Amino acid sequence: MSNDALIQGLNEDLAGELGTIIRYNYQAGRAEGPIGEHLREMFRREIPDELGHAAFLTDMIVDLGGEPTTTPTPFGKPSSPKEMLTLDLEMERADVKRYTEHARFAEELGAIELKLKLEEIAADEARHAREIERILRGM
Ligand SMILES: [Fe+2]
Ligand SMILES: [Fe+2]
Repeated sequence: MSNDALIQGLNEDLAGELGTIIRYNYQAGRAEGPIGEHLREMFRREIPDELGHAAFLTDMIVDLGGEPTTTPTPFGKPSSPKEMLTLDLEMERADVKRYTEHARFAEELGAIELKLKLEEIAADEARHAREIERILRGM
């Protein structure tokens, strides 16, 4: 894997994070009904994690000589809490898979800090997925 391919991969991750930040903010505003208050709290608690991921990726892309994206990955806008959480679970799981794969690329390139940090981000996303799964099980 080349440096350019790595930058492109990290930019996909960054676009995903920007989309997640906007999606969780949107969903917090739209969450209604008996479970709405709990969901608002969870979405707003996860936003700082995703912001931290986006900040790290932005710095890393610049340090690698790339141009960090400012365009979020588009996302669906389901209206019911259950559909929102189902979408979020799907996207968090996809994030875990993508970060795990990119951590492997980083390892191949001998970029140890990047490898470890991407694994740490993958672990954060796995925790987010687990938290969403727990709520979905009770719905
Ligand atoms: Fe994230
Ligand atoms: Fe997440």
